[in-house]
Parts: sequence; C-alpha cells; structure tokens
Amino acid sequence: MTSAHPRVLAALGQALSLELTAVQQYLTHASLLEAWGDQSSSDRFRRETVEEMQHSERIVKRMIALGVAPAASQLRSVSTATDLPGLLELNSLLEDQLIVHYAEAARFCRLIGDSTHAEFFQALLEEEQHHSGDIARWLSELSPHLQLQVRARF
Ligand SMILES: [Fe+2]
Ligand SMILES: [Fe+2]
Repeated sequence: MTSAHPRVLAALGQALSLELTAVQQYLTHASLLEAWGDQSSSDRFRRETVEEMQHSERIVKRMIALGVAPAASQLRSVSTATDLPGLLELNSLLEDQLIVHYAEAARFCRLIGDSTHAEFFQALLEEEQHHSGDIARWLSELSPHLQLQVRARF
C-alpha cells in the first residue's frame, strides 16, 4: 500500500465532496430541464453527471489504494436557476471551484515531491478546465451578452 501526506488525503476528501456535489447538481439540473421540456439540454446535463460520477470513482479508487475510507462530508445543497443560462452560470461557478481545488492540490503535491498525486490532480484539473470551457462556449452560444461575464472570471 502506498502512503500520502495528510494534506493530500484531505485534498482527496475535499475533491470527492466537490465531485459528488457536481453529480447532485447536474442530475438535478437534468431533471429540471426535462420538466421544462428541453430534452436535448437535459441529455447533455445527464452526460455531464456521468463524467462527474467517473471523476468521483477515480477519487474513491485512489483513496482505497491508500487505505483511506471515502467520507465526503461536505456535500453542498443544489443551486438552481429559472432558465438554462442561469443553470450554466451556476455550473461554471462550480467548475471554477473544482479548478481552483485541483490546481492547489497539484501545486502542493509538486512542492512535497509526490509526483503520483501531482499527476493525479493535474489530470483532473485539465479535464475540469476542458469542461469549464465547454460550459462557457454553450453559454456564449445561448446568450452572447453573457460571454464577457464568463470570460471575466478567468
Ligand atoms: Fe469532475
Ligand atoms: Fe466538471
């Protein structure tokens, strides 16, 4: 069994909380969109839910490999809006939190010479950056006037 710095274990636990928060939020948004009659957007959100579930699974497997019991203790309540651009803005904020978390976790792992976990967090960072870009593009297609606000956060 490999070992890890306590802060790396804490970063894994926090990552799991954030990913499961994303699962809950995207699943809820998919159901909301279906209720609003927007099946194609609902399907897209459902695919995003699966991606976040796969991220959660990678983190759980990593914790098990380290002999740590997964305990996501900070599942946040779902944020909702009244239309699709509003949902996408909320999801963009959630992705930003994941990006900040993974960037900090990867930076710390590099600092202490833990290349295994530096690579683990870096890979998740890049996937969330890609995801965030997809959400920003989708939002800009729907509401060109919102594009500047989204870009202003990066
Ligand atoms: Fe994720
Ligand atoms: Fe994501």
